[in-house]
Amino acid sequence: MSLKGKKIILGVTGSIAAYKSAVLTRLLIKAGAEVQVIMSTSAFDFITPLTLATLSKRPVLSQFQHDKTGIWNNHVELGLWADLFLVAPASANTLAKFANGICDNLLSASYLSARCTVMLAPAMDLDMYQHPSVLSNIEKLETFGNVVLDAESGELASGLSGRGRMMEPEHILLKVEQFFAVKSDFSGKKVMITMGPTQEAIDPVRYVSNHSSGKMGLALANAFLSRGAEVFVISGPISLKVPKVNFRWKDVKSASEMYQAAVEIHEQMDICVFAAAVADYAPAEVSPEKIKKKDATLSINLVKNVDIAAKLGSKKKQNQVHIGFALETEKEEENAQRKLSEKNFDMIVLNSMKDQGAGFQFDTNKVHIFHRSGLTVQSEIAPKKQIANLIIDQIKNIPVWV
Ligand code: PMT
Repeated sequence: MSLKGKKIILGVTGSIAAYKSAVLTRLLIKAGAEVQVIMSTSAFDFITPLTLATLSKRPVLSQFQHDKTGIWNNHVELGLWADLFLVAPASANTLAKFANGICDNLLSASYLSARCTVMLAPAMDLDMYQHPSVLSNIEKLETFGNVVLDAESGELASGLSGRGRMMEPEHILLKVEQFFAVKSDFSGKKVMITMGPTQEAIDPVRYVSNHSSGKMGLALANAFLSRGAEVFVISGPISLKVPKVNFRWKDVKSASEMYQAAVEIHEQMDICVFAAAVADYAPAEVSPEKIKKKDATLSINLVKNVDIAAKLGSKKKQNQVHIGFALETEKEEENAQRKLSEKNFDMIVLNSMKDQGAGFQFDTNKVHIFHRSGLTVQSEIAPKKQIANLIIDQIKNIPVWV
């Protein structure tokens, strides 16, 4: 989503995560935003103002009075200028100041003057982040209506591991885009997306699965999110780096777990997209112990899995939209048309393994979309992000949507 014309104050405070604010500045600028960086004095110990000034294409502010010219940096004007006041990283010290109205630097004074939404991305060490004083400051800031972007888990600068890492810049960008997309075309809509492969256990160490990476499903999830929808993802095992915090996210392994997760939320959904490559069959029995190598051949009995799309399709309400995928290697159109009708989809997206760069694993896809109404649309090979938006645009041609 473009952030063209959006004015963002980016507060940077004293934390080792301040190096990530350079990446965040670049992402915001690349998305079209105007970014005014305000640094706290302790942020200077972690990143130079020159870096942030160069990336934001504006002088960085930090003092009430400009060092050389003596010109006053008007915190009231700054606070009113911004469409969004984002602080990333937000140190424990800055959170405490904001929560208690302490106003001893340009950043905290501008915070008190800001009328726009405030987003805070805390970054600190494991035990600091769990300290009751920090937790109560965060709680207090949330009661002011500030949006706290939960710290992520991982390795911390101290060597400890756990929650406290500043949310990754790419994830913060999505939050910012989501904030500005509120009034966009899918605002208020609840969307469920099944994605990735399923894994059907044979024994404790082996499974039946397929090559789905989850890239197509994730591209759809991100596209719906940036168009204002609330996105419920049900994902099979994938190894993509995912901003789960932005979604209602449920990890599952098998087709039956995916079905259980989907059936629980289906009724509340406006749109369901079945992008998962669900294993059609699963071992009839799961061996409780690792199967030992004995004979020259081994037969495993497979039984049909629940067809999630078909089952939920039979419960589809009049105002719900169901979109399916078909991954084919032969008789592509015929098979896609059959699935469109058998699974009660409003629209099916055919991707063929015969098209170079389409289907599993690729960052690109080439699709042929069939509407139940007879309308068809074909794409060229394009990034999955672009294909996702093309698919979402097509929802507007579905009669229940109009
Ligand atoms: O994840 P990527 O690497 O990016 O690859 C993307 C993709 C190729 C997996 C994706 O674009 C795709 O085509 N997904 C559906 C693959 C598939 O299983 O197609 P199918 O023709 O077997 O199934 C038809 C439809 O029924 C699909 O919407 C599928 O999600 C659904 N289904 C199938 C079987 C089952 N038991 N339950 C289902 O819900």
